[in-house]
Amino acid sequence: MKKKLDNSAPKGEWLTLHRARLVQWLHDTLVGDDLAALKGRIAALRAVAAAPAAADDPLFAPTDDPVALRRDVLLSELDQVLAARTLPRARYYLDRLHAGVAAVRRGDVNDINLLRWKEHDDVLTDSLWILERRDTSGAHQGWYWGNFVPQIPHQLLLRYTRRGDWVLDPFAGSGTTLIECRRLGRNGLGVELNPEVAARAREIVAQEPNPQGIVSAIAEGDSAALDFPALLGRYDVAAVQLAILHPPYHDIIRFSADPRDLSNAASVERFLELLGQVVERTSTVLEPGRYLAMVIGDKYLRGEWIPLGFYAMQQLLEQGYRLKSIVVKNYEETRAKRQQRALWRYRALAGGFYLFKHEYIFIFRKRG
Ligand SMILES: C[S@@+](CC[C@H](N)C(=O)[O-])C[C@H]1O[C@@H](n2cnc3c(N)ncnc32)[C@H](O)[C@@H]1O
Repeated sequence: MKKKLDNSAPKGEWLTLHRARLVQWLHDTLVGDDLAALKGRIAALRAVAAAPAAADDPLFAPTDDPVALRRDVLLSELDQVLAARTLPRARYYLDRLHAGVAAVRRGDVNDINLLRWKEHDDVLTDSLWILERRDTSGAHQGWYWGNFVPQIPHQLLLRYTRRGDWVLDPFAGSGTTLIECRRLGRNGLGVELNPEVAARAREIVAQEPNPQGIVSAIAEGDSAALDFPALLGRYDVAAVQLAILHPPYHDIIRFSADPRDLSNAASVERFLELLGQVVERTSTVLEPGRYLAMVIGDKYLRGEWIPLGFYAMQQLLEQGYRLKSIVVKNYEETRAKRQQRALWRYRALAGGFYLFKHEYIFIFRKRG
């Protein structure tokens, strides 16, 4: 269970404070040796942070080096100090707060400030993702059959990229990854085999505001044969910092009649071979030490569950990638299946199998 933040401040509301003054204030509070006096100062700070008129306080004075703190998290941290029963305990909490205000410790591949990690509770860390509803805001229209929910690239970008990084999606489809890249200020390059889909995706991605002026581009092509360094060269970059692969789940959905389309591979073996080629090509431009995420589900063939996901995972392991996580995500039923729910349930009961309700997100790290 996630620990609830114990206060009434709305989540996501930020306070911009004068860093140096706050650091000094916390430092002066820390050096005292009287618990009641320490709590008195903290209660005063809490009142300033909680009051709507707080902007008059010198802690809110303009500065070249401000610190932005999430109000609900700050209040909860101050409450923790106030609830401490001993001076060492109160100092311990206060020291942590002081460190998080005085300095920033970024994650090695993201912009998460590890000293203020509680402010990032929108970032998932569990391996089971139950995403109730598709994000349909902005340019996300959900028009493409076989797209993934925007929350998938959103989470991956938050965890595995920094602002300004480059992201490659070799199975771009409707451009979901690129829309998220625009929102989060990451450069996004997609490759899509089907020219009509690529053209429509380009139009839709362009509808998403681009406040940070990043590059979004979708090239038409076969990712199993494409010269990725040349593609990146068009933008004067040599490497990407994250690759997100969402291939067809073999022939579950046939995306086109093109024989190069992975959904037209004549067998599971051939599908895996082609997928392996896409991974090899992707690896030529993925920066060492950075991440590759693959979203894939399993399939049935003649009454047998084919563990396509695990086969695909094996491919990546054989290419030298280190497995970091296997995320299981709930899977939306297709419209056709939803209409025939009763029939499918009967088939499952009669046939000794379970209906697909999940897919995988395999997270790999390229060796450095
Ligand atoms: C599962 S969909 C990806 C959907 C995408 N994540 C989205 O949200 O729209 C797979 C896509 O891969 C494309 N594709 C299949 N074979 C390909 C290949 N060899 N090279 C590039 N794209 C390919 C298909 O046309 C399809 O659009």
